[in-house]
Amino acid sequence: MLEVEALKVSYNGVPALSQVDLKVTQGSIVALVGGNGNGKSTTLRAIAGLNRADAGQIRFNGQPITALPTSKRVALGISLVPEGRRIFPKLSVMRNLELGAYTRRDRHEIDATLAEVFGWFPVLKSRLAQLAGTMSGGEQQMLAIGRGLMAKPSLLMLDEPSWGIAPKLVTKVLDTLIEINRQGVSILLVEQNLERALAIANYGYVIQTGRIVLEGTGRDLLDNEDVKKAYLGL
Ligand SMILES: Nc1ncnc2c1ncn2[C@@H]1O[C@H](COP(=O)(O)OP(=O)(O)OP(=O)(O)O)[C@@H](O)[C@H]1O
Ligand SMILES: [Mg+2]
Repeated sequence: MLEVEALKVSYNGVPALSQVDLKVTQGSIVALVGGNGNGKSTTLRAIAGLNRADAGQIRFNGQPITALPTSKRVALGISLVPEGRRIFPKLSVMRNLELGAYTRRDRHEIDATLAEVFGWFPVLKSRLAQLAGTMSGGEQQMLAIGRGLMAKPSLLMLDEPSWGIAPKLVTKVLDTLIEINRQGVSILLVEQNLERALAIANYGYVIQTGRIVLEGTGRDLLDNEDVKKAYLGL
């Protein structure tokens, strides 16, 4: 469904991605893992259209999207839950969720998605009028994911959803992602928490200084000696 080929991205002439090739097949959970500053967020941002590709090609359901603006990619079904959540702290939970549906018009369909989001994250329903910034880190992450789902994506990309939240909630959030995936949403998950991400992923990629250096099933990568040494401290 998503194909990224030979993607290059730079910031003010400084290369951040030099060779990123990856695929997400329909219905799968794919993890993109690697240490600090290796280009995980840049990859997701480029797929979402927030960073410009210097070279390479991004295709979604066979269609080249490399030159499309973000809103068009969202309308095609690609949604990003950004690093650090980026919810609007001074707006209510409800307004934050509504903003996720900005490319949609049909009120009935939007309400149906809202009901689905409340099913996955009941806490949001009980806090609709609360200002988002007053919620706990874990609740804000659920809100950020809920907002991402309000676009009704077929591909949901998440940038370090476990960042800054209690371990118990990490489990809850990852379990919910598995549930969301079972309902037919494909997932591209970026994590520094390699072990947990690869444990739920059908397939994984390891990125290092802007290149994909290893790929395989979650199990293959967890068993890989280089991965164990470099990332798992084993
Ligand atoms: N806005 C920016 N301006 C300039 N350089 C940037 C910018 N954002 C990222 N970079 C650089 O691009 C490279 C890749 O960064 P990126 O944020 O994609 O990595 P990451 O794997 O997501 O890291 P982290 O685990 O810290 O989130 C790094 O060298 C980083 O310093
Ligand atoms: Mg990042």
